[in-house]
Parts: sequence; structure tokens; C-alpha cells
Amino acid sequence: MKPLRRVFLVGGALTPFIGKSHPDFIWKGHSDFGKRENPTLEEYFAQVLAKLFAETGLEPARIEKGYVGNFAGELFSKQGHLGSMLARVESRLEGVPFTRVEGACASGALAMIGAIEAIQAGRNITLAIGAEAQTTVSAREGADFLARASHYETERGLDDFTFPAMFARRTMHCRAETGVTEEDVAHVVVKAYANAAKNPNAHMKAVPMTFEQAATASDRNPTFLKNPDLSPFLKISDCSQVSDGAAAMVLASEEGLRALGLSPDDAVEVLSYAQSNGALGQVSDFTRMGITERAAKEAYADTGLTAGDMKVAEVHDCFAITELLMTEALGFAAHGQGGALAREGRTAIGGDIPVNTGGGLLAFGHPVGATGIKQVLEVARQMQKRCGDYQVGHDIKHGIAANMGGDDRTAVVTILRNNAAV
Ligand code: CAA
Repeated sequence: MKPLRRVFLVGGALTPFIGKSHPDFIWKGHSDFGKRENPTLEEYFAQVLAKLFAETGLEPARIEKGYVGNFAGELFSKQGHLGSMLARVESRLEGVPFTRVEGACASGALAMIGAIEAIQAGRNITLAIGAEAQTTVSAREGADFLARASHYETERGLDDFTFPAMFARRTMHCRAETGVTEEDVAHVVVKAYANAAKNPNAHMKAVPMTFEQAATASDRNPTFLKNPDLSPFLKISDCSQVSDGAAAMVLASEEGLRALGLSPDDAVEVLSYAQSNGALGQVSDFTRMGITERAAKEAYADTGLTAGDMKVAEVHDCFAITELLMTEALGFAAHGQGGALAREGRTAIGGDIPVNTGGGLLAFGHPVGATGIKQVLEVARQMQKRCGDYQVGHDIKHGIAANMGGDDRTAVVTILRNNAAV
């Protein structure tokens, strides 16, 4: 969709994404263990809203409508009804209508779509917020919760770690059918950790990763699936993180933007957004992200732009293979050529199409409900040269984000324009 009423980003905020291996994460060996606890889902909502309103200077009561993205609050945090959580943590939101939306790992982008469409329906200032706290349970128990994003009845049995197994299956097919190598996958992993090392908000910012470590299974980086056919195709470093965190953004119509004293001429604008869904449990080709590809085609067609116009991208890299397939789905590389794109350094911060500059889901982290919002904010932050040590060198007029739920079953592709760029 190209919005009928123009939509602009007023501002956004992120909490740090944390979990195991992050210096602040309280685990049983941490010096603060027993003295303090990791923030809860409720505290993440509070933290990100406080940051958002402090950074934008926006009076919360000006929000006319909001959407909350969260996948599994009931399971991880024993908390549902999250639309009404926000006024509890920020009393100045009392009375503002909020709706919670769920689309697995695309929940964040669906919240953003809600906020965009509320503007199409006549609202002028809207909020999208997403959060997840997943470290409340072990990775193994969490894997069962995350498996609810698959077709549980037919796919849960793939492995105790259902989603890792689903993407090991994709890797297996890509290795056999399109020639992706273990080294291609390792390039994605090493880039993710190198970028995260420059990003103060990243979950894995303190974890070094060499090419050799990423490319070779070892005691330090083992394969871990029980499914014997799939196990050789996935190491721990190929997986996104089990992270806690939150992200939020304020959007406005042209009228809303001007009422806030801002000008459309130097704002970041949502030029188009597209959502596509595919049937659960029915992937027709494991070497393609077909549903994301469909959404990307629609988003490009609505703008008249092509992949070549995009100068930065945030793509859903829930596993390293996913980033390669995403770059193909967005048209940066032909089918089967995502590996070459990564190998040649073209997706690195210094490349012509930098991808996941803050570390992606692999190393920035993946607090499921927050991810889709974080991705769009990262594209905007790159456009506005606010990425500090991981800032790309070139000016950016257009950028793209692709958020995905399940095994490419809900896909949202968003194209942004930086109106301040020539
Ligand atoms: N040697 C052998 N096995 C090891 C090991 C080692 N050194 N380290 C870990 N493991 C294995 C073991 O099987 C272990 O299980 P148990 O401890 O229960 O026996 C298991 O890995 C988990 O280990 P940890 O609890 O130490 O967990 P970890 O933090 O190291 O987890 C991970 C590693 C399992 C890869 C975890 O990070 C993970 O599950 N990542 C993926 C998260 C995920 O699937 N997110 C959703 C992505 S899909 C998406 O985005 C779309 C959607 O809609 C869902």
C-alpha cells in the first residue's frame, strides 16, 4: 500500500536488547544474582515509553490511537491484555485506545501497520510499540512456546527446537539445490557479531566471533538439534538470540507532524508498506522466502522504486540462512546468489547495500514483539546518521525493512524515504 494520507516518523525509542551472554543479564553466575532481577515485560513497556516521550518531547496524551505488538506474553510472562498495560506504566496514556496485535515474529511490524492505518482512518498521531520478555524460561521451554508460530500439530515434532530445525531444513535445501556453502552462512554470522560489537544496544555486543568459529562446529559452537537429518545444518551461532527488550515509534500524518512543529520536508516518510500471508505449514519452496518476495514486489510496485534504489536494509535474520534468502527476496541478489552478495562484503556496513548494520536478530537480538519496530527505526536512524560507530558512510534516500513471522508465513515489507536527503 502507498498510504493515501502521508505518514511520517516522529521519533522512536529502544531499550537495550539483553539475554544470556549480555553483561547486564542476571544469571546464576552474575555478581548481582539474588540482589536484582532482569526487567519484566511490564518494565520493558515502562522503560521504552519513558525513553520515547523524553526523547521526542511529545506529550503522551497527544497519542490518538496505539497498537501493541507481542507474540506470547501469556506464555512467557503470564500476561495478556497488553493494550491496557500501557496506561498502567504511563498514567498519561489513560483513556488512549490501544489494541494488541499478534503475528508471531512479525507482531512488531503488524503494530506499525495498525498505527499507519489508523492515520488512514483519520487519526493524526499514533503509536506502535512492541515488547517481549523471553528469558523467563529456559531456551528449551521457550522453543515450545515459539513453536506456536508454526503449524503446531504437524510441525512441532520436527525437533525440540522446532524453529531452529525449520531453518536447518531450509539450509539443507539451499546447500543441495542452490549451492549455498557453510562459509556463506559464516559470513552472515561474522558480520552480525562485528556490527553488534559497535552497537551499545545489542544483546551480543560483548561476544567475539571469528570466521573460523562461525564456519566450523566445535565444542564452543556445537550443532544441537536431535533430528539427525537436520542437525548437521545448524550451529548455535547460526541462531538468533532469546532476548528481552522493547521498541516504540510515533507516527503522524502531515497535519499531525505540523501540529508538532515538524516539517515533512526533513522527516522520514513511510513511502509504502505491504503485508502478505501464506498458509501455515505449507512452504512450497524451502530455497525461497516466497511470501516476503510477494510483499516486497508489492511495496516496490507502489513506489516505482527498485531494489537498486535501496541504500540500507534491515531484514529478518532469525537464522543466518534467513538473511541470505531475505536479500534474494528483496531483489538485492538473484535466486541462489545471496551467498555471493554476503561473501563479497556488499551487505557489510561499507558495502553498497548494508544489511542489518546493528547486528540483526543474530546479534542485536530478537525480543520477538519488538523486532519489526526496531528494524524500521534502525533504517530511519541510519538515514538520519544517528548510528554512531555503526553508521554507514553514504547518504541514504531510500531504505527497506522486512519483518517475518513463522517460517515466512506473515511478511511485512516497508519502504522509507528520507525527505532531507537529495
Ligand atoms: N554443547 C551441546 N549442546 C548445547 C551446548 C553445548 N555447548 N550449548 C547449548 N546446547 C544445546 C542443548 O541442547 C541445550 O539444551 P538443554 O540445556 O535443555 O539440554 C540447548 O542447546 C539450549 O541451551 P541453553 O539453554 O544453554 O541455551 P542457549 O542460550 O545457549 O541457546 C539456542 C542457544 C538454543 C540456539 C537459543 O539461542 C535459541 O533457541 N535460539 C533461537 C530462538 C528462536 O528460535 N527464535 C525464533 C526465531 S524464528 C522467527 O523469528 C519466526 C517466528 O515467528 C517464531
